[in-house]
Amino acid sequence: MKGVILAGGLGSRLRPLTLVTNKHLLPVYDRPMIYYPIQCLLNAGISDILIVTGGEHAGDFLKLLKNGKDLGVRHLAYAYQEGEGGIADALKLAEDFADGEKICVVLGDNIVEGNIRRAAGDFFTQRSGAKILLKEVPDPQRFGVVRFEGEGEHKRVAEIIEKPSSPPSNCAVIGIYFYDADVFKVCQSLKPSGRGELEITDVNNYYLQRGDLTHEIIDGWWTDAGTFESLYRATDL
Ligand code: G1P
Repeated sequence: MKGVILAGGLGSRLRPLTLVTNKHLLPVYDRPMIYYPIQCLLNAGISDILIVTGGEHAGDFLKLLKNGKDLGVRHLAYAYQEGEGGIADALKLAEDFADGEKICVVLGDNIVEGNIRRAAGDFFTQRSGAKILLKEVPDPQRFGVVRFEGEGEHKRVAEIIEKPSSPPSNCAVIGIYFYDADVFKVCQSLKPSGRGELEITDVNNYYLQRGDLTHEIIDGWWTDAGTFESLYRATDL
């Protein structure tokens, strides 16, 4: 399985810091944010990694990471995203890199305490489809959120709703996703959302409707780091 880190975007929620650098190069305690998703993939045994970025500061990733060897990456590739089409638009650029293999996609501003190795192993043996990871949060309206149906053994994911004003649960879909090679066709078929982006939540809902989406609730803490509050929390954690 290959790894894809999405590290583009304008970082508009972190202005003025992001006027002079890419969000994913900002410090989280003692290292640049991008080190954490790289380490997350390496911990799961994934060392063939593509970084998708864009904007004026894209060249700084090369300066920092070079060929990735210092961090233990076996093969580091880069792709450049023109414009701001959203997460699922950025993912389209990974098609040639993936070359028909399954992929683990990590949003560059997501940081997890635990190891996703078990989830990666489970997805490796999953015949097809996708897998999402969930975590209970106090502020679900900021994320993609799961609506469950049924109880006990019959409890299942019925729908994923992007940034709901009245969240149907406090289970957020974290920014680590596993996909089979169909994901690129799915991304091509999407229409922009209200915020003008191709949404990763629409990709996940496609797999859900196909009956081919599994999920796991992760152990340990998880945070994004794309706002001042969450960047501060990430540093603290
Ligand atoms: C994105 C996704 C959202 C997900 C979140 C995780 O949100 O759209 O579904 O829960 O990442 O960090 P964004 O950071 O684009 O607001």
